[in-house]
Order: sequence, then C-alpha cells, then structure tokens
Amino acid sequence: MTGAAEPGAASQDELLILGQTLRLREDPFLVPPEDCAAHDSRGGVLVREGRIAAVGPADALRAAHPRARVEDMGDALIIPGFVDCHAHYPQTGIIASWGKRLIDWLNAYTFPEELRFADPDHARAQAELYLDLNLANGITAACVYCTVHPQSADALFAAALARGLRLCAGKVMMDRNAPPGLTDDPRRGHDESAALIARWHGRGRLGYAVTPRFAPTSTPAQLEAAGALWAAHPDCLMQTHLSEQPDEIAWVRELFPEDPDYFGVYEARGLAGPGAIMGHAIHLTARERAALAETGTGVAHCPTSNAFIGSGLCDVAGLARSGVPVGLATDVGGGSSFSMLATMRSAYEISQLRGAPLHPAQLLWMATAGSARVMRLDDRIGRLETGLEADLVALDLAATPVAAQRAARARDVWEALFATMILGDDRAVKAVWSGGRPMKRPPGA
Ligand code: GUN
Ligand code: ZN
Repeated sequence: MTGAAEPGAASQDELLILGQTLRLREDPFLVPPEDCAAHDSRGGVLVREGRIAAVGPADALRAAHPRARVEDMGDALIIPGFVDCHAHYPQTGIIASWGKRLIDWLNAYTFPEELRFADPDHARAQAELYLDLNLANGITAACVYCTVHPQSADALFAAALARGLRLCAGKVMMDRNAPPGLTDDPRRGHDESAALIARWHGRGRLGYAVTPRFAPTSTPAQLEAAGALWAAHPDCLMQTHLSEQPDEIAWVRELFPEDPDYFGVYEARGLAGPGAIMGHAIHLTARERAALAETGTGVAHCPTSNAFIGSGLCDVAGLARSGVPVGLATDVGGGSSFSMLATMRSAYEISQLRGAPLHPAQLLWMATAGSARVMRLDDRIGRLETGLEADLVALDLAATPVAAQRAARARDVWEALFATMILGDDRAVKAVWSGGRPMKRPPGA
C-alpha cells in the first residue's frame, strides 16, 4: 500500500477514518480492472484541513498520528464521495412521472415544474431538498442544470456554498420551443449567465457551467452566444444534451440542416472539447463518436434515465475505450433515483443488455474519478489520494439482510461491493464527509 503514514507531529485537527479502503489508481477501462485497484481490509484515511493527508494501513496511521480524532467505520468500505456529472435539481419534484418519452415528458412534466422556479422561495426549498437527497446518497459533488431563471441558480449556489460543497451548475439557456415563461433570448441568456459567473464561479468550491439546454431549444444565435461566453470563461464547464432519442435527433436535423449531425451543431459553435459534458450520447454516428474522442468532449452516462424515458442502450464502454472521458449521472428527474448505487446497477443492467457486462471497478470509476474527470476536477476529487479534497463515503456492505447474507459469501471485495451496487440504496451509505466535515453520520453516532 502506497501513501503510507506520514511521520511527524499529530494534531487535534486531524481526523482518522478507519475501515476497509479501496483505491482505484488507474482507469479500469484502459487497464485490466483487477490491476488498477488497491484494497486494504483494515485501512485508514487521514484528513487534515479538508484534504486527504494520507491513506494507508490503519495501525500505521494510528501509530503515526496518536492524537488524531478517530472515526472507526468497522468493516465499512471507505471510498471517494460519489460525483454525479449530470442532474436537474428543479426536476426533484417530478421524479418518477409516468409514461412519456423525451419531448412529451419535457412538455407534460418538466416545463410546468420548471416554471415554478421563477419563485425564489420555491427554488430555495427545492435546492435544499436536492442537496439533502444527494448527501443522504453519498453524492458529494455534482454538475447541475438549473432553470432559465437566474434566481434558480442563485438558490442552488447559495445552498451549496453554505454547506461547503463542491458543485458546478448553470442557468439553462432556451430561446425557442419552450413555454414563454421559460425562455430568454441570446443577449439575455448570455448576460444573465455572465452575471452568474461573476457572482459564483470560483467562490468556495463552486464552479459555473454554461448551460444551453439542447439544440432544439436554442436558436443558432443562442448557441453562438453560449460558445462565445464559454470562450471568454474557458475555466467554466459547458453542459448540454446529445442524441438521447431518435425523434429528437430527427428534429435537430430539421432545425440545423446545414450541420453534419447533432454533435456537429455544437462543434460548429465552440461547444465541444475538454470541459464540455454531453448528457446521454446514445445514438451516435461513427463520425460523432470519433469527434467526441478527438475533441476530448466528455459524456455523462445516464442509465436510469435512458431506461426510464425509453431512450436506449449507450455504449459507454466503447466510448471510454476510444478515449472519451465518461462519467456516471443520475439525470434526476428523468433519471429514476438519487442513488448512485441504483445508477451503477442500471449501468450494469444496460451493459448486460448490450452483451458486455461492466466490471464493478468500471462502475465505481465512472461514479467517482470518471465523473470528476468529465468535470475537469480529477486533480481535486474522485480518488483516495493524498492532496485531494476529503469528500468521502463509508459504504456499509451489509446494510440490509439480503446484502449482508450475500456479502458473507463474497470471496473478495469486488464481489461484496458488487452485491451492494445491485442491492443497495441510501441505507448502505453509512457516513459522508465533504471537505473532511461530516455530512451524514452513522445511525446512533
Ligand atoms: N433533453 C433536454 N432537456 C432534457 C431534460 O431535462 N432531461 C432529459 N433527460 N433530457 C433532456
Ligand atoms: Zn438532462
């Protein structure tokens, strides 16, 4: 085990979290999954000033840091906090809405609810609820769509700042094919987004994501304005949707007849490259797949949503192997769960339907380091490495009777972890830390 205990004086300000530790050192889509991980059945993570100060065997860390406050998680598995690289907080209230496919689902459920975010009180209440649900599920960082209303972004950023969370978000830009109360125009969308960047980007652990919703709800002029804004603020992210359903793709072809394909619409307007995050990216042409890889554009895999809204089976492993940065996402509330465990289960089931099961290391990677890379935060979060921010989760691999009896038969950590990926929910998320501060404590603690 590398990164072993550091010598020297210990301090009361140090926190030592003990449990099993599981570290993914390399991308399991590129190296054999078994070769990329380090598991310690009695390990520890030392936290100092909000960061991971050391990872190593529990006994060595205890000996080297005798004054550190100890939180012993027993057999729970200490992993990085989950990173959700695509979610819509305003859709919390309409999660689990029945029977529609994408365009009808947007019109019937999503847009009426998003209209309510003109009210800052509603936005504030939903922002708090969204962050509560994230933390209960071990999601310590996310890249989030707000609504067209700047106050919806203010509400989420303020709530995340107060909790000290790492979070990226943006006000949606839409100037056509949406109800009047949900549209801006190219100038207003640009200027309101620029004002939000000035107000929030870089404060605490917050970042801004320029957020044209998707090609059908933006004119070419608005996409140009979004591209210009991102070019002026290149350390922001850019998030949008790509090739989720066939009807949507046909609509984009009608709306943008001059462009080669759906991804080409974004490329032509400066909306591709590292830090651009394409939600879904299911029905891609060979050119689009190659262009995603060549430009270094990220993809947010949204498996529960892709099943729930009936969108299709994304070839996320193929994209990852061709060099596209891929992360895992709840896509709340087109997605059907706030649980990243449920999201990993769905990703696994979709990979089975494609005939190539994802390894648990690949699932865990996408839910942590993969999403962090898509958000260009892989030097800050997503792995158990010295120097990274101490956003951590303790996973109980025996949280329910069915998981406990399955874990008891497991021959290795992967088998036990996989059982909780398939069977688990927020009950398996025993404790959560954000920047080293407790956000969820074990029952009775
Ligand atoms: N495409 C454009 N907007 C949305 C949205 O809110 N959810 C999903 N799943 N797809 C979209
Ligand atoms: Zn989405």
